[in-house]
Amino acid sequence: MKIGIIGYGSMGKMFLWTFYETGVVAKEDLFVSNRTMEKLKEAESIAHIGTNREVAKASDIVFLCIRPGDIKMVLEEIRDDLAEDTLVVSLNGSVKFSLLEQVTKRKFAKVIPSVTAEIRCAQTLVCFNDLVQEADREALRPLLATMGDVVELPEQEMGMGSELASCMPGFIASIFDVICTEAQKHTTIPREQIVDLVLRTMCGTGELMLQKNMTFADVVTRVATPGGITQEGTKVVYEHFPETIDELFVKTLEKRRLTAEKAEQNFRG
Ligand SMILES: NC(=O)c1ccc[n+]([C@@H]2O[C@H](COP(=O)([O-])OP(=O)(O)OC[C@H]3O[C@@H](n4cnc5c(N)ncnc54)[C@H](OP(=O)(O)O)[C@@H]3O)[C@@H](O)[C@H]2O)c1
Repeated sequence: MKIGIIGYGSMGKMFLWTFYETGVVAKEDLFVSNRTMEKLKEAESIAHIGTNREVAKASDIVFLCIRPGDIKMVLEEIRDDLAEDTLVVSLNGSVKFSLLEQVTKRKFAKVIPSVTAEIRCAQTLVCFNDLVQEADREALRPLLATMGDVVELPEQEMGMGSELASCMPGFIASIFDVICTEAQKHTTIPREQIVDLVLRTMCGTGELMLQKNMTFADVVTRVATPGGITQEGTKVVYEHFPETIDELFVKTLEKRRLTAEKAEQNFRG
């Protein structure tokens, strides 16, 4: 299976090097292109370097690791070089299948990675258009599995899915940043140590839930004995926190809608 990467930026680099380092694709079968060709020097030893068209022509699966504003132009450039069966994978959640298909009616997938892919611990989201067959899904899955778990969703749920998997590391980090900052006001424990305590407890709690198949409510019940100290805290969280999180989702989903609208205008324009 020949794999192509178009765009050697943050995502293209991560995909190429992960495929190479995990051995899921042999280096003879890896192809890469980028607008600024000099940047590809560092990839010379692990992949064939080529133009977008050469990469498209050589690949059974081609990943478009480019920004939404560049997708239409690149698709127009490569469409005649793609074999009928080539699976084209877009990494951008804002550009709908219907827009991609207007340029060329192909097998398309959209993949939303997460920063946790760096430690092979991601929940990578994927959706497919109607032309994609089971064999295409099976071909893509092991590539994405090199970064962690692979979760298929319908296209219309990729937005909320992205909030829950791709944006969530940012939400989690900001929530726990606030917790550490607020804790600092009530203790002489140095911030570094507070962060360490919270971070390790956070990881331990997640691991406990996964290993013991516990729900959030199970953990709360286990720790917050009625009338006890923890319960005082959990009551505050359940009373005041929902409003903040509701606002978070309202704002991010609206931003997502506007971004998709802008991507559509760019695409049509
Ligand atoms: N970064 C993330 O965490 C993340 C997460 C989820 C999804 N995504 C999505 O993934 C996509 C890529 O994001 P990114 O962060 O990797 O962007 P990036 O770092 O800006 O990389 C984009 C790459 O595309 C190259 N490029 C631009 N036009 C090109 C063309 N015509 N032909 C070939 N290469 C071209 C650029 O080349 P130059 O070297 O010339 O600039 C650059 O290397 C985006 O659609 C983004 O929305 C990103």
